[in-house]
Amino acid sequence: CWDFIQLSLFGILAKRVLHKNCDLKKIKPELEKSVTMGKRNGLHLPEQVKNEIKSIKKRMSELCIDFNKNLNEDDTFLVFSKTELVNCGLPDDFIDNDKYKITLKYPHYFPVMKKCCVPETRRKMEMAFHTRCKQENTIILQQLLPLRAQVARLLGYNTHADFVLELNTAKSTSRVAAFLDDLSQKLKPLGEAEREFILNLKRKECEERGFEFDETINAWDLHYYMTQTEVLKYSIDQEFLKEYFPIEVVTKGLLSIYQELLGLSFEQVADAHVWNKSVTLYTVKDKASGEVLGQFYLDLYPREGKYNHAACFGLQPGCLLPDGIADRPSILRHDEVRTYFHEFGHVMHQICAQTDFARFSGTNVETDFVEVPSQMLENWVWDIDSLRKLSKPYKDGSPITDDLLEKLVASRLVNTGLLTLRQIVLRKVDQSLHTNASLDAASEYAKYCTEVLGVAATPGTNMPTTFGHLAGGYDGQYYGYLWKKNLILKPGGSLDGMDMLQNFLQREPNQKAFLRSRGLDAA
Ligand SMILES: *[C@@H]1O[C@H](CO)[C@@H](O)[C@H](O)[C@H]1NC(C)=O
Ligand SMILES: *[C@@H]1O[C@H](CO)[C@@H](O)[C@H](O)[C@H]1NC(C)=O
Repeated sequence: CWDFIQLSLFGILAKRVLHKNCDLKKIKPELEKSVTMGKRNGLHLPEQVKNEIKSIKKRMSELCIDFNKNLNEDDTFLVFSKTELVNCGLPDDFIDNDKYKITLKYPHYFPVMKKCCVPETRRKMEMAFHTRCKQENTIILQQLLPLRAQVARLLGYNTHADFVLELNTAKSTSRVAAFLDDLSQKLKPLGEAEREFILNLKRKECEERGFEFDETINAWDLHYYMTQTEVLKYSIDQEFLKEYFPIEVVTKGLLSIYQELLGLSFEQVADAHVWNKSVTLYTVKDKASGEVLGQFYLDLYPREGKYNHAACFGLQPGCLLPDGIADRPSILRHDEVRTYFHEFGHVMHQICAQTDFARFSGTNVETDFVEVPSQMLENWVWDIDSLRKLSKPYKDGSPITDDLLEKLVASRLVNTGLLTLRQIVLRKVDQSLHTNASLDAASEYAKYCTEVLGVAATPGTNMPTTFGHLAGGYDGQYYGYLWKKNLILKPGGSLDGMDMLQNFLQREPNQKAFLRSRGLDAA
């Protein structure tokens, strides 16, 4: 049976070889990958086992849909008085009889967590945010994780993490674990210093405002004091800064930077058939040859019924804005400009890939490699010349100053220890839940929060049940966002991610550049 599969796959590929006139050596990796894919789908197993896998997969897919649907449809809100929301900078239209109705959606949650000086308000918000869908999604995770483990076993793998990693750049669970542990050891001193710094901020603020000082950084203190650190260390006020980044100007600058960088030309298609007149269609051509490489739509503005966060092919950084007041152009915070660059990087990866077989085209690379090109392309939003291109003068006509730009670029390093350690926590939780399905999600999360980050999870919360990636396509490989970096766009997925890295770097990848980008000595 197995030989037969290999032969028939080979037959299909052989036809393509003849048709495409390419040589057999070139096709070997494609063939091997097809065989692996067949095996991963259980094509070599007895009919009965195949059917069992099929029905489990159907069940898992329903569970994942429900998990994310629960989160998307969550409409929990909290009610606060004005004094409970000092400094939050929230628009007045939330007000209702002197009370503010605060939802757990990003445009409410983050401003409160970053700006509200009242600890009790932040505590209530963080608690509510990390208990979203706790009941229903805990039950779903308790079903989903064992099902994933079961399918992995039926297919001949020890764990779901092993199954997922086989196709990934990292290849093995032990390598992922070693990578994460090594990185977290290197970042630990930096994280501790940063925690010490914000603990001091907290001590001072508690004295000044007369709040009780509990001598610890709680989960609900983290965003607040990290935001203060940005202002204190780098004089960066993101809310002020965003006036320089209207979406139209950012779009124009972004398109121009990408065209220059990749040797492309983008032409807007006049009278394109679109689903809303704010959507635009562009044709992408290779600048040198004039060859058409593809087309992309830009759908940038929030709209009733539209997907609620930034996504490739549904790009909409604008929806992160709390307001869409008509006489003001949409303006972007710097982190939203970065998201825009990131998502557009996926579009370019998709369009620039020129592979022989559809399976390997563009973002069909190993899942942990998918983020690499976009992460590299994000670097342009930390470059002073690019930032000039992406910004326009302030309301009063004064251009963005060099001083401000330099501070913004320097602020890239702010809180980098704590932020990276937090990412490591999420990745470790992801790995352990997909290695041992009987572990308790909330306590695994709590364990790594304390061990790695040094900031305890709030008792009673269950962050993993609010973590959409766990039931999305990133299970067991969420570490990929950190497993960076460098790229070649053209091979798409036709080369192994690790080989692509080595081809590009001319050496084995290591963490040095990454550590340096975090302001650490890489020696
Ligand atoms: C198109 O989208 C805009 C927001 O970008 C919205 O205000 C408008 O109602 C939409 N038009 C239609 C016909 O859906
Ligand atoms: C998985 O976790 C359970 C519950 O904590 C534990 O009893 C068991 O020994 C673990 N299994 C493995 C293989 O580590």
